[in-house]
Amino acid sequence: MNKIVIAIDGWSSCGKSTMARQLARLLNYIFIDSGAMYRAITLFFIRNHIAIEKVDEVEKALQDIHLEFKLNSTTLNNEIWMNGENVDTLIRDIKVAERVSEVAALAQVRDFAVAQQRLIGAQKGIVMDGRDIGSVVFPEAELKIFMTADPEIRVTRRLKELQAKDPSITVEEVRKNLATRDHIDSTRAISPLRQPEDAIVLDNSNLTPDQQLDLALTWAKERIGLH
Ligand code: DC
Repeated sequence: MNKIVIAIDGWSSCGKSTMARQLARLLNYIFIDSGAMYRAITLFFIRNHIAIEKVDEVEKALQDIHLEFKLNSTTLNNEIWMNGENVDTLIRDIKVAERVSEVAALAQVRDFAVAQQRLIGAQKGIVMDGRDIGSVVFPEAELKIFMTADPEIRVTRRLKELQAKDPSITVEEVRKNLATRDHIDSTRAISPLRQPEDAIVLDNSNLTPDQQLDLALTWAKERIGLH
């Protein structure tokens, strides 16, 4: 069957990864959460006190980072491993979220991550979500979806997710973190978040997860030639 690349980009906390994972499962495709790579790199930088303004230090640190996605046979999720350690849960911590946008704005970090994303995508049959997947990583992707939602709805969703792990997180902290990330992600010099001209916009403010998945599945089947 004709395998395609599906690029899902959009603002933070729009539910991109959740939808991308479900879509990949329905199509029997591989799901790659590109944000997890930037988060894992950030975790490494935090742990090793890397001064991100020092180019040499960043370059040296990247040489010591080995990232892999491995299938968890129980959850059937593709989880991220860094240097032999499963960091899939650790990277969702607010401490990582607070630093990740600055790290993801660095040229060397982006080159490092994008090269690996392209290697993974070369096999086709993948759904990858992020900020620059349709615009930079796979400009030739057969299907590009750009996800957006009302900012306050995004704050509420993210708060619920974070409070499940840490009840002390406040709505103000989450609102500030999202606003800062939106700002850095969309204004950085290299590969800023942009809606590709050929992307289909999916505003899910008033859609249930099933409704948005149905839409994405219809678009994917059209591109694959299943309709
Ligand atoms: O999707 P996420 O929230 O896990 O992404 C974490 C951060 O990584 C986000 O602030 C922006 C950055 N990112 C990026 O710059 N490019 C990508 N392709 C994916 C994520």
